[in-house]
Amino acid sequence: MKLSKELKQLIISFSPSINPLLALCTCVSFIAANDKDTDNNSNEINKKRGLSIMAKMGTLVAAIERHAQGKISIEPKKDLSYAANFLYMLKEKMPSKKEERIFDVCLILTAEHDLNASTFAARVAVSTWSDLYSAIVAAIATLKGPLHGGASIKSIETFEKLASEMEGKKFCDKGCLKIVEDYVMETLSQHKRIMGIGHRVYKVKDPRAKILEKYAERTSSGNLLYFQIAKEIEKVMAKEKNLYPNLDYFSGIVYKSLSIPKRLYICIFAMARTSGWVAHIIEEYNDNRLIRPRSEYVGSKNRNYIPIEKR
Ligand code: COA
Repeated sequence: MKLSKELKQLIISFSPSINPLLALCTCVSFIAANDKDTDNNSNEINKKRGLSIMAKMGTLVAAIERHAQGKISIEPKKDLSYAANFLYMLKEKMPSKKEERIFDVCLILTAEHDLNASTFAARVAVSTWSDLYSAIVAAIATLKGPLHGGASIKSIETFEKLASEMEGKKFCDKGCLKIVEDYVMETLSQHKRIMGIGHRVYKVKDPRAKILEKYAERTSSGNLLYFQIAKEIEKVMAKEKNLYPNLDYFSGIVYKSLSIPKRLYICIFAMARTSGWVAHIIEEYNDNRLIRPRSEYVGSKNRNYIPIEKR
């Protein structure tokens, strides 16, 4: 889990306002650039590399965030679990057993999920016989978008926005329910999306969301407003669109209860998903054929060539 002196120097050279996911991508590239043997993609070497990258992800994310806060990075502790180590390195405070368990559940639920977009990107990279690090960089870059890893930030922002409009009211007030319903209907009428809802594969509620929902409810027992807003949006979306929450819908509420800054949510996704990426990368190396889909041309046909000077 420990970072080299050079890697720590790289992190402190970043602007504190850098997008943490891009910083993470740069750190993985830096680790690759310092590996003298990247052309060797044997199983044995890749398993070692994979373990090393998985171990370092949490340390990197914590160090990037601490630098953004103007604080020095914290060394991992040998006797802590991965989840506890991350929370400790982030806050310089030992997490409680309950916090450790909650975060561990979040990591487990996010760890692997067949051919999602970032995993597919990793497999495409490896299918060209590129190296493991480059495949992880491709995966992190693909995770960044709001239709994939970025959805958790967008959904908590929706809950925050609606909560601020409800200030001073009790959620059971009719006015509050109307604020939520109006928001959903307005968003849908503009053909925009409610983030954290819907899934390419699941046409029912994502089973991971069902587990996170329980944690979101328990961890927000002091202030249920975000959770109540989430449940109300869920109800309206089920009725209007027959679409249901995915993994990213409740995760922000849980992370908020652990005082994890919003900007780190996608980085945490990357930390957790690295185990899945590495497993897919190794599998692809062992049974590979170049992934090269065809595209279908649907433009106009039989066009004449017009010389440049006549255009
Ligand atoms: N809010 C509103 N409408 C949604 C929607 C959402 N969250 N998700 C899908 N739809 C609608 C689309 O607008 C489209 O409507 P139309 O047929 O009237 O044009 C229809 O459902 C199909 O959309 P499409 O993008 O083709 O479905 P998909 O199966 O490819 O979508 C997602 C999967 C995840 C990209 C999509 O549900 C989405 O954008 N969700 C929000 C982002 C998100 O939570 N991402 C994390 C995924 S784990």
